[in-house]
Amino acid sequence: MSNGVEQDKTLQAIRYKRGSLQLLDQRKLPLETTYLDIRDSKDGWVAIKDMVVRGAPAIAIAAALSLAVEVSNLGAFSGTPNDAASFLSSKLDYLVSSRPTAVNLSDAATKLKEIVQKAAATASEVPTVFQAYVEASEVMLQDDVASNKAIGHYGASFLQEQQTGPKNISVLTHCNTGSLATAGYGTALGVIRALHEKGVLERAYCTETRPFNQGSRLTAFELVHDNIPATLIADSAAAALMKAGRVNAVIVGADRVAANGDTANKIGTYSLALSAMHHGIPFYVAAPLTSIDLSLPSGKEIVIEERSAKELLHARGGLGEQVAASGISVWNPAFDVTPATVISGIVTEKGVVTKDGSDSFDIKSFVQKVESKA
Ligand code: MRU
Repeated sequence: MSNGVEQDKTLQAIRYKRGSLQLLDQRKLPLETTYLDIRDSKDGWVAIKDMVVRGAPAIAIAAALSLAVEVSNLGAFSGTPNDAASFLSSKLDYLVSSRPTAVNLSDAATKLKEIVQKAAATASEVPTVFQAYVEASEVMLQDDVASNKAIGHYGASFLQEQQTGPKNISVLTHCNTGSLATAGYGTALGVIRALHEKGVLERAYCTETRPFNQGSRLTAFELVHDNIPATLIADSAAAALMKAGRVNAVIVGADRVAANGDTANKIGTYSLALSAMHHGIPFYVAAPLTSIDLSLPSGKEIVIEERSAKELLHARGGLGEQVAASGISVWNPAFDVTPATVISGIVTEKGVVTKDGSDSFDIKSFVQKVESKA
């Protein structure tokens, strides 16, 4: 237990029981397994901004639960049920300001605000409003794993159906979309897990995902943890890997998918999609419906977070010593937008959205169909 490497290799990003929240400090992985106590929304905001927790679904759940812990442990609150709802709403707005690109966080905040406003309209006491908030945020944690397992199931079956070559499938993925980026199992990495469980995964390739190395530090850690046959590549090796015929499909996650299917995801995703198109390899996005932003007709309107120059200038995504020349200027967008034209399908927990001959996806109709069946 001396150097951290032998500690329990847990993949649990979020540890929660009512009144207490701990987040696995992903900046320390894969060398150390350390949990940080999150006592309130301020701690939650800082943990998200500083990448203690990252990945679109995990950010949303961690933010919601940080406020749940705050109100669970709040002593007295002076005010009416409506004041309690306003208090929660302004804390949610504050949490949404931590990182702008992933829609899951603002989607969760909008849903939670509606719940507390409804509760306040009928409640005679403040604790009823707080209770409604805490219970709703706990449901988000519980629902996420089931949703990811459904994504894994639909994605693995679809990839198998589409596979024209050998029975076993080799898949390339980018960034980290696994247990560590969600409440458990993962989205794109969930599809890889499901292919492996079905015995049809030949090999998973994961990129390093520069500059923050979510691939080499986190995805590689998850793949090794689960004994999945896997190989790490430099981001710049992806096109050569495809040209060598070693990849049957590319699958990535999403931070925000516009109504036409344009997808914001970790920087480098767009390059992978262009390479895949050039080599005739299908390129899939795996994401829960909470990652879809139907208010945006296309990806043009997606706000892309720019992160600190330090992530490029210093080793380990900004956490280590300086490695780049002092004085150089830096452009460090955390995400890019891949146009729908180069995406073959979007795997959700309700099935796979395809393009049916056109250049873009009609996600609105897909969602309407799903909702009419529910
Ligand atoms: O900057 P990060 O690590 O939060 O970026 C994460 C990604 O881009 C993931 O692909 C996306 O959030 C989906 S996670 C299931």
